[in-house]
Amino acid sequence: MGIFSKDIRTMDDLFVHTLRDVYYAENRIVKALPEMIEKAGDPQLKRAFKAHLGETETHIARLQQVFRMHGLEVRGVDCPAIDGIIEETDDVVGEVDDPTVLDAALIAAAQAVEHYEITRYGTLIAWARQLGRTDCASVLQTTLDEEKATDLALTAMAEGSVNQKARAAR
Ligand SMILES: [Fe+2]
Ligand SMILES: [Fe+2]
Repeated sequence: MGIFSKDIRTMDDLFVHTLRDVYYAENRIVKALPEMIEKAGDPQLKRAFKAHLGETETHIARLQQVFRMHGLEVRGVDCPAIDGIIEETDDVVGEVDDPTVLDAALIAAAQAVEHYEITRYGTLIAWARQLGRTDCASVLQTTLDEEKATDLALTAMAEGSVNQKARAAR
């Protein structure tokens, strides 16, 4: 962001800025997930995190594709929002001792990440359509569908068993 000039003038500039924001976020998530996989005690949760790590690598590749489709160099911009969500996760997770409570905390943190991604991709898709880039919108939609499916799977795990097991912790 320039100090002396305003770098975002048009909707296209705003679209590109947000694309770079989510590109940074996806790269940050790829670095955070291995520790979450390691810490997860519930085997189903561990598998879900592993599967989403693979999907997240694909999300990065799809964003690179959208950058190229839009004639842009591939690069991110700092996203303090995702940094904050991940920092808070590290803080909370570091304070939890019981492994079942830890799983509940990990799901909550992962859902905060998913919701951040869902809001960003939802916006990007709406703007891409508005800018006449339905081709970019459809690539981004595939990722949004995977983020939403992950969020639903996490809810099912939390409500299905993880929260109940954690409730027994003393
Ligand atoms: Fe993602
Ligand atoms: Fe995600």
